[in-house]
Amino acid sequence: MKTTATTLASVASTATVMAMAIAMVSALPATAVAASPVTFTKDVAPILQRSCVTCHRPGEIAPMSLMTYEDARPWARAISLRAAKREMPPWHVDKTIGIQTFKNDPSLSDEEIATIGKWVEGGAPKGNPADMPPPRTFPDARTWQIGTPDIVIKYPKYTVPAAGPDLFGELITEIPIQEDRYIKAIQTRSATAKSHRVVHHALSYAIDPASEGEGMAADGGQFLVEYASGKNAEVYPEGSGVFLKAGQRARLGYHFHPIGEEAVAEVEVGVVLYPKGFVPKFTRWSRQLAQPTTPLDIPAGTVARSDGYTVLHKPARIIAFQPHMHNLGKRQCLELIYPTSGTRMSTEIINCANFNNYWHLTYNYADDAQPLVPAGTILHNITWHDNSPANRRALDPKNWVGDGQRTIDEMGFFWIGWIELTEEEYKQQLAERKTLQEKAQAAER
Ligand code: HEC
Repeated sequence: MKTTATTLASVASTATVMAMAIAMVSALPATAVAASPVTFTKDVAPILQRSCVTCHRPGEIAPMSLMTYEDARPWARAISLRAAKREMPPWHVDKTIGIQTFKNDPSLSDEEIATIGKWVEGGAPKGNPADMPPPRTFPDARTWQIGTPDIVIKYPKYTVPAAGPDLFGELITEIPIQEDRYIKAIQTRSATAKSHRVVHHALSYAIDPASEGEGMAADGGQFLVEYASGKNAEVYPEGSGVFLKAGQRARLGYHFHPIGEEAVAEVEVGVVLYPKGFVPKFTRWSRQLAQPTTPLDIPAGTVARSDGYTVLHKPARIIAFQPHMHNLGKRQCLELIYPTSGTRMSTEIINCANFNNYWHLTYNYADDAQPLVPAGTILHNITWHDNSPANRRALDPKNWVGDGQRTIDEMGFFWIGWIELTEEEYKQQLAERKTLQEKAQAAER
């Protein structure tokens, strides 16, 4: 067992080294332009196009567009400030710890942040219009990102009043399948632009009709897919699927947020299925894991730590990490405690991420960085809640806070996406990973 753990430790550190190498390569162009004045069209627009305009364009969730010079110029100082504090784009992984290669990482390099800073210091000039990259184009926000779904689960419409408290509850509907199937891809969307603005958070589960009306627990049923404001898509790996049992119904646990005008929340789940009778090689799981071992206890005016643990009884390939807390959420770490018997304990921090309840971000590991862990590995969740006046989102730091469903209550678990492996598959995948890393190391020399 000792050798296994040591191998894994070197797996993660090599991933870090590779991430650094990539960052250094992408830094080169910024250094090259340092001599000439930094302009919007030549230097800044490409950065905004890659990392900002997904949200900062008309009709999307950000408050202003950053598509053109005219759009962005009034915000120059705010852009530089938010970028320097790494608040924008929303991506809160601690860059000094653990794995750094993810799918769809929009975060800026230190050089890009410096470029924006220099642009602002230099008076935020426009530059030569001919340098402007063509505007990035996007599919309609309401088109399916997963291709054409085979079935669409439509939850009942819900009218959210203009004002009032946040709304929590459940909606239930049919899943239109006749036999057991496997899900290949799945996506939650708001059917209208207005709905897009009121749906804060929505979790879909498949439930047995028999269990309906029994005061279902928050984690009742099999989890299918999550949707949250600002949440990026979760990418399913090749050859894996999620089991969907015939006769089950879909349950939506919702959190709607009034926006100052009446709006109808219309939530739909599109599902691409594997062909009838087809069983994918791997079942992909996604669950709320490592709940704190004791009820949350967050005294007034303090930062409180809590810990939770989940044992993985089979070897696994970890695909995604998503912290989950509410307003007091400050930071969460995922640590692996490797199975050791009679040897020194071996642990490893895989990632730490700061938390802001406005954003529910899923960190999808790049294929070659997905942690491969042996049977018996313990996922350790270390969570910090900040109930002090230093946290602007702490609504009343003079009051104690504990567990609960409302935004003003707290939670402190993480979602983990993973695939179970057999011992054989685990050994094979570990060997493939080692070969890849040896090649990468040889290429660096
Ligand atoms: C995933 C969507 C998303 C991305 C990507 C994103 N933003 Fe934002 N941005 C928002 C939202 C939503 C807000 C308003 C809420 C807030 O302030 O956090 C915001 C707020 C801001 C603000 C503050 C506006 C104000 O009213 O003071 C600035 C400045 C900003 N973003 C700049 C950027 C820059 C620069 C980038 C890219 C480097 C970026 N954002 C990427 C969604 C996004």
